[in-house]
Amino acid sequence: MPTALIILAAGQGTRMNSDLPKVLHKVGSAPLLVHAMLSGAGIEPERTIVVTGHGAEAVAAAARAHDEAVEIAHQSEQRGTGHAVAQALPHLDGFEGRVIVLFGDTPFIRPETLAAMIAAPSDVVVLGFEPEDPGRYGRLIVHTGHLYGIVEYKDATEDQRAIRLCNSGVIAADAALMRRLVGGLDDRNASGEFYLTDIVAAARAEGLTAEVVTCPSDETLGVNTRADLAAAERVFQARKREEIMADGVTLTAPETVFFAYDTVVGRETVIGPNVVFGPGVTVESEAEILPFCHLEGCHISRGARVGPFARLRPGAELAEDVHVGNFVEIKNAILDEGVKVGHLTYLGDAHVGEKTNIGAGTITCNYDGVMKHRTEIGRNAFIGSDTMLVAPVRVGDGALTGSGSVITEDVPDDAIAIGRAKQVVKAGLSPKLFEKLKAEKARRQKEAK
Ligand code: UD1
Ligand code: CA
Repeated sequence: MPTALIILAAGQGTRMNSDLPKVLHKVGSAPLLVHAMLSGAGIEPERTIVVTGHGAEAVAAAARAHDEAVEIAHQSEQRGTGHAVAQALPHLDGFEGRVIVLFGDTPFIRPETLAAMIAAPSDVVVLGFEPEDPGRYGRLIVHTGHLYGIVEYKDATEDQRAIRLCNSGVIAADAALMRRLVGGLDDRNASGEFYLTDIVAAARAEGLTAEVVTCPSDETLGVNTRADLAAAERVFQARKREEIMADGVTLTAPETVFFAYDTVVGRETVIGPNVVFGPGVTVESEAEILPFCHLEGCHISRGARVGPFARLRPGAELAEDVHVGNFVEIKNAILDEGVKVGHLTYLGDAHVGEKTNIGAGTITCNYDGVMKHRTEIGRNAFIGSDTMLVAPVRVGDGALTGSGSVITEDVPDDAIAIGRAKQVVKAGLSPKLFEKLKAEKARRQKEAK
């Protein structure tokens, strides 16, 4: 059966105490909303509708940046979850199939859990969980396997508050039924809101069936405060580390490695302690990431070795067996097979041909204060230590630059380029110089008294 996804993301998130809409706060380098979209994508919905309200433009932009096919519904006033779904339903005119409603601030529901909800036979299916502390969650009224209703904490009696089975917020029903039930909601309750949760009792009143599918409470973790956000980050990182290790990657100290939502690492790669992955990193198999590296928007090929203390920024592409050592920063640069950049170097907006050696302290001077320029270095070249490559500039295949050179003009293939002041040697002059300096120091001390 075709499915459609509605993701509610109109709320302000007052308790975050933030100017940023809540669903745009990040976990694993991606907005909470994107996590919700990713978990929803697991059921391969035909349509995805995100309901925006607070910070609508920014939320819509983030949703579209992740999936340009997403549809946006606007809820100008936040009058409850039922009202929010009502804003999305016109986008599903003519759609027949299952509709599943997710919250944008509940990032970790597993696709398998949503699949189980889709597969459940009842007319209305609700995702429930048993948290350690049921707090202010809505309570699920269940008898002999059937769900009779959901009561919000504010509206619940003492007996109902004692129920431990809680509402995650995720609800599924066929589109036609959802339209009819949501159309019949009212706001006569403690909050004066249109509760989506009331569709359960309404369905039962029509003689329809409702049931609960349950999941572990780490999946339904909702983010309401910055402390929740930190807890969500912990949950995300723990999950991602497990996944990465299950894929055959060695993490020497897993609890010190931080991944992004989209980090991909190949088998037999070894990642040392204190490595941080920003978004957009792919690492092939049998690579080695030594401690204290920061990687973002880059690709590391098979057999490459990076770090310790290396920083790879967006557009860094390391081919097989490249070696990038300590205190090296690489941005928007392609390093072909076997290139070695051992120490203390910045390569930006550059291409380095295979097997070239970049000496310690080399810098591509890629920015003139207004524009960026490229540096091209050929294959089997040797860039002497402390070379400044003033871009735009090209160093040919097999060429060599002398240590300390400032290279401002292209160097042809197989040439040697030396761009530094010529050394002057003055025999026997050093003792005289020191005598002169000591005399000057004594004179100044005497003067200071
Ligand atoms: C909701 C459930 C509650 C459940 C809890 C789980 C209802 C009535 N209650 O309560 O049973 O235990 O979630 O976390 O559904 N939103 C909109 N527009 C609105 C109102 C809300 O888009 O007008 C969005 C929010 O941005 C948020 C989600 O819906 O992503 C949930 O809203 P929230 O106000 O947090 O609901 P709860 O009171 O937590
Ligand atoms: Ca909430």
